[in-house]
Amino acid sequence: MDKKCAIVTGAARGIGLATADLFLENGWQVAMLDRDGDELLKQTATRENVLPLVRDVSNPQDVAAMVREAHGWAGRIDALINNAGVAEFGPIEDCDFAMWRRVMETNLDGVFLCSQAVTPYLKDTHGAIVNIASISGLRASTLRVAYGTSKAAVVHLTKQHAAELGEFGIRVNCVAPGPVKTKLSIAVHSPEIIQAYHDSIPLNRYGSERELAEVIVFLASEKASYVSGQIVSVDGGFDSTGVGLPALRA
Ligand SMILES: NC(=O)c1ccc[n+]([C@@H]2O[C@H](COP(=O)([O-])OP(=O)(O)OC[C@H]3O[C@@H](n4cnc5c(N)ncnc54)[C@H](O)[C@@H]3O)[C@@H](O)[C@H]2O)c1
Repeated sequence: MDKKCAIVTGAARGIGLATADLFLENGWQVAMLDRDGDELLKQTATRENVLPLVRDVSNPQDVAAMVREAHGWAGRIDALINNAGVAEFGPIEDCDFAMWRRVMETNLDGVFLCSQAVTPYLKDTHGAIVNIASISGLRASTLRVAYGTSKAAVVHLTKQHAAELGEFGIRVNCVAPGPVKTKLSIAVHSPEIIQAYHDSIPLNRYGSERELAEVIVFLASEKASYVSGQIVSVDGGFDSTGVGLPALRA
């Protein structure tokens, strides 16, 4: 009961896995949720102080079960990291309703459902929620009608929750990652896109999963005890440059 407990969604790989590992290094226990059961169980088999939860964040029954199981296991819930996300990119005219729903149900419905389900337990611990949005939710760009809109909604949901849950001592913040080389980004970033990102990002490189995890875990921790309702871009300076013409920097 002494060890703090974080629930990390989308924890089987990428940013979610790196975040779970950093919580473990900091002495937390971690309920690791993912709908990819094979990969999740492979990862949890080699770690201590973890609970694997093979669940889908877009399914209300799964979410209710995940909260019951995590609380039953740890006796407390101190943080929820809404990290599970899917990326499907394409022109507006090719984004049929099925694709729109696939993106929304994980990226937006999942954040809403998990946050609502965990709230009663976070009231007990004065805990924190960290949502993972994207730089694609901060400015519009091509091919991201569903993805970008879902992430912009996550940005606003963060502020809604921060406004309403603050009186219960619950902090709610959001991390907006720039490009990070994970399975999700490799699937949608061609070599040309990778080069263009390098040219446009002031730090001239992709971020690492660990660099994202450091900020996520900080925001979930007591060290950020007076931080709520904030959107923190972890993006090598990308968001700060606006139109950021690479030619002006070259
Ligand atoms: N990698 C990037 O460049 C980048 C940039 C900006 C934002 N992000 C965001 O960061 C988060 C993590 O991205 P990543 O690159 O580590 O992705 P990833 O694809 O490597 O990992 C995502 C994990 O989430 C799981 N998942 C997806 N939908 C789920 C669902 N409905 N229920 C349960 N689990 C589900 C997947 O099985 C996978 O294990 C996402 O929200 C993504 O949108 C990533």
